[in-house]
Amino acid sequence: MARKPIIAGNWKMNMTPAEAKELISALIPLVQDAQADVVICPPYLVLPTAAELVKGTNIALGAQNIHWAEKGAFTGEISAKMLKEVGVSYAIIGHSERRQYFGETDETVNMRTKAAIAAGITPIICVGESLEERETGKTEAIVSAQAEKALAGIEVEDVKALVIAYEPIWAIGTGKTATKEQANETIACIRETVKKLYGKENAEAVRIQYGGSMNPKNAAELMAMPEIDGGLIGGASLKAEDFSKVVKY
Ligand code: PGA
Repeated sequence: MARKPIIAGNWKMNMTPAEAKELISALIPLVQDAQADVVICPPYLVLPTAAELVKGTNIALGAQNIHWAEKGAFTGEISAKMLKEVGVSYAIIGHSERRQYFGETDETVNMRTKAAIAAGITPIICVGESLEERETGKTEAIVSAQAEKALAGIEVEDVKALVIAYEPIWAIGTGKTATKEQANETIACIRETVKKLYGKENAEAVRIQYGGSMNPKNAAELMAMPEIDGGLIGGASLKAEDFSKVVKY
């Protein structure tokens, strides 16, 4: 079954609204004929500006996180309803930087995933191992457990539309990319986990991205691998030219 590739830019804490305007305006013509789904995930503050700019284009908007509650006393958090209203259709959930610096756990990842689905926002669920975990042969156990916990209680009819991002922590922002074989093999293992939980058809429909120092130079060879359905791009998503080259690998 053919899965449509999906390339998403994770801007992290970069770009003011003015800077974002420049980047998005430059990006629109460069990716208008892309074969892949194109998503940009700017900081929350930039989302309304970005939404105006991408209206009528093939660029979809994603948030970098999402809270699980509908509303209430959660200082500093943003709800699914707020995101939906400004035109967000994807949300990155459980990025390793959230897990590492902001106390995100498998349990909160699961809660955020459910909130996104309930609001009609497609989650991009991030999983990935540390260098130590890879070197001690724990990669498959770690990513399978993370995927399984993220998906706990998710209804079978919601699984097909999900996006998962395999992001080895040691490859993020380091310039050190997983080899195409490593990425393909680990993604296959994540797909196997989905299969175990939801069956073959659902597992084959879920799109699983690779993330971690993916750039214009290595995108083509990674994307040529049968299990890799896209990329979650950090550094290389901050320049229109670079991101468009990844999008059109
Ligand atoms: P990177 O980041 O492309 O800068 O390595 C990827 C990510 O963290 O999503």
